Amino acid sequence: MTVDPWNFEYSGHLFRSKWFIRKPLPYDYCGLPTLLVMISARQVFRKMRGGSQSWLMQCDDNHFYVVKASNNPQGRRTLVNDYLGSKLLRLIEVNTAECTPIVIPEQLIGEQGLHSLYGEKAGCLDTGPHFGSRVPVNPERQAIFDFLPHRLLPRITNLSDFFATFIFDQWASNIDPRQAVFYRARGSVDFVATMIDNGRIFCGHRWCLKDLPIREDFWDEAYRVGASQQTLDRTIHLISCITEDTIATILREIPALWLAGDMEELLRLVDSLFQRRRSLRALVEQHVARWIDT
Ligand SMILES: Nc1ncnc2c1ncn2[C@@H]1O[C@H](COP(=O)(O)OP(=O)(O)OP(=O)(O)O)[C@@H](O)[C@H]1O
Ligand SMILES: [Mg+2]
Repeated sequence: MTVDPWNFEYSGHLFRSKWFIRKPLPYDYCGLPTLLVMISARQVFRKMRGGSQSWLMQCDDNHFYVVKASNNPQGRRTLVNDYLGSKLLRLIEVNTAECTPIVIPEQLIGEQGLHSLYGEKAGCLDTGPHFGSRVPVNPERQAIFDFLPHRLLPRITNLSDFFATFIFDQWASNIDPRQAVFYRARGSVDFVATMIDNGRIFCGHRWCLKDLPIREDFWDEAYRVGASQQTLDRTIHLISCITEDTIATILREIPALWLAGDMEELLRLVDSLFQRRRSLRALVEQHVARWIDT
């Protein structure tokens, strides 16, 4: 489906912001609004658990996605956090769900009666674009789990990703416990972990950054086993290598609907995120010493 996710108010914001003035745009941004080909939902499978009331859907690229509506009860900033969080995790080479805007055809919304509940009230889904987090396997054919018992942790092939994600979560002030899903690699008895749900990084909808108290976390054991000085150094290095240009490109991909009136605030937040890199090592070292020393 071809939609126009941009509007001129949005391009105006971006164009005035310092990042877009400092560097020439990588493509013709000032002409007509760009038309993007978006992935479209084809079939709704089921409602998922969680505060944003998402759905499992199969889309026209044949992949399955967990889709959070643009008018979900947790608000639009959840989608921006989810999108940006997933892209940042990829940049630091953590295995995380691929994410993309998704269009749900009006006919499907009508047929399935898709709606979000706001307390007692039900609201019909707006036309989107919505947020899609790609399921790493076909969940109709292959088991995928939200948790694994601790005794199976040594069977996770990318355990160090948990430790790298811990560093990311400290940097980005994730106020939710970390979530991941697990599936068996093809033909193997071992598991792969894929990080999901960045909806409450940046202190959730507050969009601020602060040092969070360390809580008891189900994944403490995974952090301990996956921790190493090498992963610590590498993750901090990869975070320090993220450039303004890269972030600007990601911000431009975010649908205008999710950002209505929020662009200035988002740019201010991203600025603080960049500055927070300077204190990141000191911030995490105090917490990770207990895992790296053991
Ligand atoms: N990419 C994915 N692959 C497989 N399952 C996923 C994926 N993304 C989300 N899920 C499943 O959907 C559920 C809801 O997703 P998510 O946690 O992102 O939503 P939420 O509504 O923000 O939840 P919360 O209550 O934690 O705020 C997850 O618990 C997980 O089971
Ligand atoms: Mg969640």
